[in-house]
Amino acid sequence: MTTMPQSGAGEPSRLPLPPGGSGHPLLGETLAFLRSPRAFVTERQRRYGNVFRTHLFGSPTVYMVGSDAAHWVFVGENKYLQIRWSYGTRRVLPAQAITMLTGEAHQARRRLLAPHFTHSEVRAALPRIQRLALRHLSQWAERPGVLKVLPAMSTLVFELALGVILSEARVDSERMSRLFKTWTSGLFTLVPVELPFTRHGRALAAKRELLSLLSPLVEERARGAEQLQDVLGSLLSVRDDEGRPLPHETVLDEILIQLLAGYDTTLHSLVNLMYLLALHPEVRERCIEEQRGASLEEALTLESLRELPYLHQVIHETLRLIPPAGGIRRVTTEEVAFGGYRIPKGWAVSLGITGTHWMEPWTEPGRFDPERMGAERAEHKQQPHCLIPFGGGARVCLGQHFALAEMGIILSLLLRGFRWELVP
Ligand code: HEM
Repeated sequence: MTTMPQSGAGEPSRLPLPPGGSGHPLLGETLAFLRSPRAFVTERQRRYGNVFRTHLFGSPTVYMVGSDAAHWVFVGENKYLQIRWSYGTRRVLPAQAITMLTGEAHQARRRLLAPHFTHSEVRAALPRIQRLALRHLSQWAERPGVLKVLPAMSTLVFELALGVILSEARVDSERMSRLFKTWTSGLFTLVPVELPFTRHGRALAAKRELLSLLSPLVEERARGAEQLQDVLGSLLSVRDDEGRPLPHETVLDEILIQLLAGYDTTLHSLVNLMYLLALHPEVRERCIEEQRGASLEEALTLESLRELPYLHQVIHETLRLIPPAGGIRRVTTEEVAFGGYRIPKGWAVSLGITGTHWMEPWTEPGRFDPERMGAERAEHKQQPHCLIPFGGGARVCLGQHFALAEMGIILSLLLRGFRWELVP
C-alpha cells in the first residue's frame, strides 16, 4: 500500500487517525520496537501501509517511511514539527548543544558552526586522519590471531573524533572513551532514575566527569592568542551577531555533541563496510583496482578521493543498506495531516530511515549492489529523499563531509595495504 501525501495543517480534524495500535498501557509498543526495530516496522508496514500509529518511548507516535514522508518531515521542521527529547534523554544530553535548540536559536547555532564543516576544514583535517588511521591499521596487522574489528575500529574512530575536535591535545583517550561509552549507554532508558547503580545515574555521572576533563583544556586553549584549525578552535573563534563568543559551558556541550554525533555513526559505517567487502570479494577487487596500486603513504586528498567514484558508490550503498542512524524523531506543534490521516498536536512523529531505504523506488532493496548508486540513483533524481542516511532539511547532518572523507581514507588505506576475511 502507498500513501498519498497530504500535508500541512489544512482541515485535519475531519481525517481519521492512522491505523495501528497502542500496545501496553504504560510501555506502549516500546519493548517490541527495541527488540528488533526492523521487524517491528516491516511487520506493521505490511499490515497498515507506510504510515501507522504506535506508542513508543512514552508518546503516542505516528511512524512513517518513504521519500514523501521524508520530504514532509524535512520541510515541516519548525513549522509543524519540532525536535523534543524525552525527559531522560534531555537530562543526559548536553543542555546547551545544537541538538537541544529549536527555531531561530537552532538556525543561529548552525550558522555559527557551519564554517567549521566546510570543504576547507575537511581538507585541513585529512593528513591527520591519514596519519592516525595508518598507525592503527599497521598495529592491527601486527597483532597475532583473529582481530575483533568492532573494538579495534572503535579505538581508531574515537581517537580520530578527538583529533578532529582537539587536535593533538594531551588527553587520556582510553579514560575518555570509557566515560563516553557509559554516558551514551544511558541516553535512552525506560526508567530514567538518577541513582548510582542505574544506567541513567551512571550516564549523568560520566557526563559530569567528561566535562570536568575537558574544561581545563578549553580554558587553556581560550587563553591562547591563535586558535588551531580544529572544532575547538572554531568554537572558540566564533562570534554571534553582537560580537560575543560562545560561553564556555556551550563550547563544552558542543564538544560532547560532536563526539556523540560523529563517533557511533562513523564507527558502524566502517565496520559494516569491512563486513560487506569481506562478503563480496568481487566488489572488493574492483575497489582495489580503482586504487591503481597507490601506496599507503601516498597522500589522500579531497581531489584524489574524488577520483574514486566506485568507492563512493560502495560507501553510499552501505549507508543505504544499513543506515547507522535508523530514524529521526520529532513532535507535532499543531494538529496536522499527512497521507490522508490526522496527527494530533503533541504526538511524536518517527521517520524510519532504514524503512525508507528498504522500499520502492529501490529494486530488491535487501541486496548489496554498489552499481545501483550509479544508474539507478540517477533514475531516482525526482525522489531525492529515497536516500537519507544524513537526514535532511534544517537539521541535515553537519558532519557529513567529514564522515565521508574519514570513511574514504580509512577504506582506501585498508584496500591499498591490507587483506581481511571473516572467520566462520
Ligand atoms: C556516517 C556518519 C554519520 C551519519 C550517518 C550521520 C547521520 C546524521 C543524521 C541522520 C542527522 C540528523 C538527525 C535529526 O534530524 O534528528 C545528523 C545530525 C547531525 N550530525 Fe551527523 N552523521 C554522521 C556523522 C557525523 C559527524 C562525523 C559529525 C561531526 C563531526 C556529525 C555531526 C552532526 C551534527 C552536529 C548533527 C545535528 C545537526 C542539527 O541538529 O542541526 N555527524 N547526523
